[in-house]
Amino acid sequence: MSVIFRTEGLSKYFDSLKAVDGVDFAVEEGSIHAIIGPNGAGKTTFFNMLTGNFAPTAGKIFFREEDITGLKPHQITRKGIGRSFQISNIFGGLSVFEIVRVAVKATYGDAPGIIVRPKWLPEVDEKAHAIIERVGLTGFSHLQAATLSHGDEKRLEIGLVLAVSPSLLLFDEPTAGMSLDESKQTMGMLQELAKQHTIVLIEHDMDLVMSLSKKITVLQNGRKIAEGAPAEIKANPLVQQAYLGTAI
Ligand SMILES: Nc1ncnc2c1ncn2[C@@H]1O[C@H](COP(=O)(O)OP(=O)(O)OP(=O)(O)O)[C@@H](O)[C@H]1O
Ligand SMILES: [Mg+2]
Repeated sequence: MSVIFRTEGLSKYFDSLKAVDGVDFAVEEGSIHAIIGPNGAGKTTFFNMLTGNFAPTAGKIFFREEDITGLKPHQITRKGIGRSFQISNIFGGLSVFEIVRVAVKATYGDAPGIIVRPKWLPEVDEKAHAIIERVGLTGFSHLQAATLSHGDEKRLEIGLVLAVSPSLLLFDEPTAGMSLDESKQTMGMLQELAKQHTIVLIEHDMDLVMSLSKKITVLQNGRKIAEGAPAEIKANPLVQQAYLGTAI
């Protein structure tokens, strides 16, 4: 198995706070790799560097061995790294189909815009429908996004990431705020997606993390304290200590 993505000594300091501190990280192509850790461990900050939203204080980021440190978010997206973002406030008035269609259209042509040659429009529609099907929203395509349940809205957010055909998908707590049923469904969907994409997942639900991930990286106070297969992580005393008082 080859490494699709890795970091070397990646760090982000906010003044004296070492939010992420010297993290070496490597993701195998085709795997689901989870990042876990207590609140404030630095997980989201780590993602924000991977997506170009934060410039690292130190360290390097490589995608398929190309140094992508310091690239802007849209440049990183174009390399094939996708991250979910929240749709609710911006696009709530559009239908599910319209929103996905806009996202697919944006991947056509050079301009980061909505102008697509008419001959491509049937293809755009076809791709939008295929994405909606993949995230299980076919029966909801005509509904306004604002009327979706929380779980369905999260699926739509995942659909928008798929529009850019990323090879690496980054998800920060995709099941946050979901009912048990909804999170199980979402995890099933991630498992399906993992057949075609590599996935890095930040997730608090330990049962889900343990059952889905090939490898788990544990952060605490910005540092990597453990890494390995789910069974190794469960048995690791440092991890148990980090989660003291919470079930792992
Ligand atoms: N923009 C910022 N400016 C200053 N400090 C920040 C900023 N973003 C995060 N931090 C701090 O960095 C540390 C790591 O935060 P981060 O959000 O990355 O943690 P996390 O592991 O994602 O936590 P959670 O599980 O609660 O989402 C925290 O102490 C947080 O307060
Ligand atoms: Mg976070």
